[in-house]
Amino acid sequence: MAIQISPSILSANFAHLADEVEAVARTADWLHVDVMDNHFVPNLTLGLPVVESLVKESSLPLDCHLMIEDPDRWAPTYAEVGAGSVTIHAEAAKAPVRTLRAIRSAGARAGLALNPATPVDAYADLLGEIDMLLVMTVEPGFGGQKFLDLVLPKIRRARELIRNSEASVWLQVDGGVSTETIERCAEAGADVFVAGSAVYGREDPGAAVDELRSLAER
Ligand code: DX5
Ligand code: ZN
Repeated sequence: MAIQISPSILSANFAHLADEVEAVARTADWLHVDVMDNHFVPNLTLGLPVVESLVKESSLPLDCHLMIEDPDRWAPTYAEVGAGSVTIHAEAAKAPVRTLRAIRSAGARAGLALNPATPVDAYADLLGEIDMLLVMTVEPGFGGQKFLDLVLPKIRRARELIRNSEASVWLQVDGGVSTETIERCAEAGADVFVAGSAVYGREDPGAAVDELRSLAER
């Protein structure tokens, strides 16, 4: 499975979003969009109207990470407006199978996210329903947090479960991914890497993506 990099616009300048997207358009694979509702996480970012505008503006497909309390109600709509991938949190979904199927029916890839304390084995039976598993490497809510090494065994276990299943599922990590930590994640089995501050905190975000990719590919 090829390495993919998904820069998170949470660390971008929201007043110049189109320019910030353009800065990574030639080197990244996806654009990671963090939707937060101030209920599931203690932070508020953006929602459907901004995603609809980004779909039109971005040459990269959108990787929408929904950190919201009612993903069953909202996730399929993000797929309908053109997101390439829609990820819901296992801790928030009341009917994950129905919602993941609705995301796929609307034409997007379906993702399932697990917080650092959520065990992956409990979701092994859902691997056939998803296109991507997101193992959070920080508690969700904010960019720029420190990578949690305690999640590494879960990344390894997730890779093992995916390998043992018939399903073809990407394994994404999000939170504290940087030039310091990306090799550890890749070694543990991750293949899709979200990076916010490690991309947009740099002078040249496009070059930062290249650098992260080459470290992950080693
Ligand atoms: C955090 C978000 C992340 C965030 C990562 O809850 O899901 O996508 O932007 O930011 P960094 O890479 O700075 O930890
Ligand atoms: Zn995210």
